[in-house]
Amino acid sequence: MKKYFVIGNPIDHSLSPRLHNHWFKENKINAIYDKKKIDEKNLQFVISEIKKKKINGINITVPFKKSVIPYLDELSPEAEKTQSVNTIIYRNDHLIGHNTDILGFTKAIKDLNFNIESKKIFILGAGGVVPSIIFALNKMNVSEIIISNRTKKKADELKSQFENLNVINWGKVPDFDVIINATSLGLKNEFININLSDVGKNKLFYDVIYNPSLTNFLKTGEKLGNQSENGKLMFVYQASEAFKLWNGVEPTINNETLKLLDND
Ligand code: ATR
Repeated sequence: MKKYFVIGNPIDHSLSPRLHNHWFKENKINAIYDKKKIDEKNLQFVISEIKKKKINGINITVPFKKSVIPYLDELSPEAEKTQSVNTIIYRNDHLIGHNTDILGFTKAIKDLNFNIESKKIFILGAGGVVPSIIFALNKMNVSEIIISNRTKKKADELKSQFENLNVINWGKVPDFDVIINATSLGLKNEFININLSDVGKNKLFYDVIYNPSLTNFLKTGEKLGNQSENGKLMFVYQASEAFKLWNGVEPTINNETLKLLDND
């Protein structure tokens, strides 16, 4: 039986096993997918289990998407540019790091009834998933990306990776067409301490968080007359791309699949 893991810390919240085990069953693949909480010091050992054929593939989540890179033999161009790996595959004796978050975000945005081309984007947060979002937005030809993070230094650091970025202080609200919450604020029903009451309507409020499905951030957007979308489809699409890389099969995404992620 093949074995797959998602590794991170914390990892309890991860719903990846539900999706992948559902797709294994549906495609009659003899495999199991589990979650593993690890410490940074065990990262190299866990990855080496793939070379020993004890593990067949790994998904990486917070906070190891960058720190896993030194233990890999090769990176996909997207993983290289973002310095972010969420999927490891083993091909021709090589451990290869991929980034499927980019495709996940791109597909989720393209599914929406919202044309993002030439739009002004405002990103809140500068954590692990943000380089992937910026990469995807640039490919979708947005006009401007403005980013704000509580710890400004982390947003400034992204400027060395993506030169077209504008960094503003936490709390400031620029003119924008799309606002993306990429902070962890909302996972526990917190509010974001930024005043958005004057932003107006006909904008897109996008939250990377999908559980809970309607964060206070999205509620605020809706109340003001804006379109809102959570990160559920981004999550499903990144998982389906990882599944495809490992198994060569594109898994089905339908209502049954989406229901697997309903927790609230
Ligand atoms: P990591 O920072 O380890 O990559 P993450 O979950 O990917 O973890 O990112 C968490 C994001 O939420 C960060 O942008 C973080 O801001 P800091 O860089 O200042 O820590 C943001 N965040 C978490 N708690 C926050 C809070 N109370 N107020 C504002 N931003 C917060």
